[in-house]
Amino acid sequence: MKERNPVGESPEKKAAGFAAADLVKDGMVVGLGTGSTTAYTIAELGRRVAGGLDIIAVVTSYQSEMLAIEAGITLTSLAEHPELDVAIDGADQVDGALNVIKGGGAAHTREKVVSHSAKRFVIVADDSKVSEQLNHYVPLEVLPYAKEFVSKEIRKIGGDPVLRLASRKDGPVISDNGNFIIDASFGVIEDPIAMSTVLSQITGIVEHGIFTNTDEVYIGNKDGSVTILK
Ligand code: A5P
Repeated sequence: MKERNPVGESPEKKAAGFAAADLVKDGMVVGLGTGSTTAYTIAELGRRVAGGLDIIAVVTSYQSEMLAIEAGITLTSLAEHPELDVAIDGADQVDGALNVIKGGGAAHTREKVVSHSAKRFVIVADDSKVSEQLNHYVPLEVLPYAKEFVSKEIRKIGGDPVLRLASRKDGPVISDNGNFIIDASFGVIEDPIAMSTVLSQITGIVEHGIFTNTDEVYIGNKDGSVTILK
């Protein structure tokens, strides 16, 4: 079946995505993230698998599943392999302390489960994603039933909640888990760990997009070089 290929031409994303693929060695169980940067990692791993690299992988979305199958990577599940050697994933924004906002592709719930299942969680991103402080909206995966309740709670803590609408479907984006996405803006997030805790306590939010468990960030630069933040 023909699918839209999320791999656009971005030398920065390609540099980061390919460099992180080098971390993957024979025998590893690998978590494959979602998005246009990780798509480069998946493509590169597919090329290496064709050359004999022996790995199995867990996906984080239908997108990464389709890309991994197309790349010829053998898939497994968290049920079969609950411990991953490494997970590689993209980001919407990264700060200097390696706090990350994810969920631009509505996949952050599975991405977070996979990231916490991995011994090593590596972010791949182009240099436009780096910010001194996090100020990107925070994607919230929300039970459809709880949409108004969650919006009210977000306003109470000073946020501006916006229901994410689909672009090639009428109505809201539906996540791979069958839920809505609310994008919540808070301005500068002074304390990402505290905000993560607050959001985790709101009933009806399945998962939020603040990740505080990143081990390394591979930043792709315009000249094709890669900066590694640890
Ligand atoms: C998916 O929901 C997201 O967490 C992506 O990983 C994130 O939006 C980064 O995507 P790009 O690599 O396409 O910028």
